Amino acid sequence: MADQVQRLDAAAFRSALARFPAGVTIVTTRSAGGTPHGFTASSFAALSLDPPLVLVCLDQGADCFPAFIAAERFVVNIVTPAHAKLAMRFATKGEDKFAHGSFESDEGGHPILPDAAAVIRCELEQAIPGGDHVILIGRVHDARVGSGKPVMWYRGDFLHLGQSVT
Ligand SMILES: Cc1cc2nc3c(=O)[nH]c(=O)nc-3n(C[C@H](O)[C@H](O)[C@H](O)COP(=O)(O)O)c2cc1C
Repeated sequence: MADQVQRLDAAAFRSALARFPAGVTIVTTRSAGGTPHGFTASSFAALSLDPPLVLVCLDQGADCFPAFIAAERFVVNIVTPAHAKLAMRFATKGEDKFAHGSFESDEGGHPILPDAAAVIRCELEQAIPGGDHVILIGRVHDARVGSGKPVMWYRGDFLHLGQSVT
C-alpha cells in the first residue's frame, strides 16, 4: 500500500480528481476585528443530519486559513452560474475579494451572498487536520435556499447542471 502511494503520479491524481464534478461554494467568515475573509471551495459536503453537520476542506497554506481556524462561525454560500467570475475572484490569492459589493452582512457581521442557490450558516465545531488541508466541520444553525440553480465545476470549468437521465 505504501509503495502504491509512493508511485502515485501527481498529475494523474489531479486528473482523476478533476473527473469528479462538484458544486461550488464561497465560504466566508469574519475576524474578531470584523474583517471579512473567504475562499472558493468545491470540497463542501454534507456530514450529518442529526446533529446537522457539514464539512469543507481548507488548504493550510491559504491566506485566509488563520481567520477560519480562529473563527466561531462560517457561512457556506452555494453559488450559481451568475457567480462564476465571483468564484474565480475568491479563488485568487491577493484579490480584494469583497470589493465588488456582492455580499451582505448577517446580524453577526458574516458575509452572505443574497442571491446564492443556498446559504448555510454554521458554528465551527471542529477543525481536523487532513494532509495539507484541514477539515472544517460546521454545526448548522440556519439554512435557506434561493431560486437559482447551483453551478457545477468539472475539469477546470464552470458548467450548468445537466438534464435528468431517468
Ligand atoms: C472551483 C474551485 C474550487 C476550489 N476548492 C477549494 C477547496 O475546496 N479548498 C481549498 O482550500 N481551496 C479550494 N480552491 C482554491 C482556493 O479557492 C484558493 O486557493 C483561494 O485563493 C485560497 O484562499 P486565499 O486567497 O485566502 O489563499 C478552489 C478553487 C476553485 C477555482
